[in-house]
Amino acid sequence: MTSQHIEAVVFDLDGVITDTAHYHYLAWKQLADELGIHFDESFNENLKGVSRVESLTLILANGNQADAYTNSEIEDLANRKNEYYKRLIQQLAPEDILPGMKELIEEIRSESIPVGLASVSKNAQTVLHALEIEHLFDYCADAAKIKQSKPDPEIFLTVCEALGADPAHSIGVEDAKVGVQSIQASGMFAVGVGSYLKQADLIVNDTTELSWTQVKHAYFNSQQRRGLS
Ligand code: BG6
Ligand code: MG
Repeated sequence: MTSQHIEAVVFDLDGVITDTAHYHYLAWKQLADELGIHFDESFNENLKGVSRVESLTLILANGNQADAYTNSEIEDLANRKNEYYKRLIQQLAPEDILPGMKELIEEIRSESIPVGLASVSKNAQTVLHALEIEHLFDYCADAAKIKQSKPDPEIFLTVCEALGADPAHSIGVEDAKVGVQSIQASGMFAVGVGSYLKQADLIVNDTTELSWTQVKHAYFNSQQRRGLS
């Protein structure tokens, strides 16, 4: 096989394929308000890509309530947030796919490149189903089986392995800082959606700027620099 090839493209879900990142924010905001903890969009940035219970731990610590609850109370609070979140995503429909994302994935698939999903969300299947795009993914990580959260590379490595892809010849797409770190720690090429993702190998402001031609161009250039071509 020539080195000018791509073995897989792996996407994050929340904030990359659809704007559920905003619904996570609203659901946490409701819970934080009820607990009397200050919570805003800026603190929410720390929670992107972070699992449900870890997010709650960060919110409680920020409100000086780190030791205020037992494990079972913490579980109840996390469930409560999830109920708020599930209510918010009930209205999700195919038109909520972020601009250009479905077309982008279809274009990748038309080149016979496997496509995977690396989301730590336990609601990922529900969201994909509501957006009617489950069939566009060859493999979706099972959030319940992932032991290490992003920025650990485990989730991206798991998806690459399931797709039979070498991470060094694969691309990941993320909207979270820890997500970009996870992609890079796995040895993949990182596309960051969001101007704040300075560390990514290719940065776009939003999904309207994501063109497959441009991604491939940036990826092949970087492979050349890394001596992988
Ligand atoms: C990530 C989101 O995709 O999933 C986080 O960026 C969220 O904000 C995490 O906490 C876990 O999601 P869920 O649906 O399992 O609570
Ligand atoms: Mg995300």
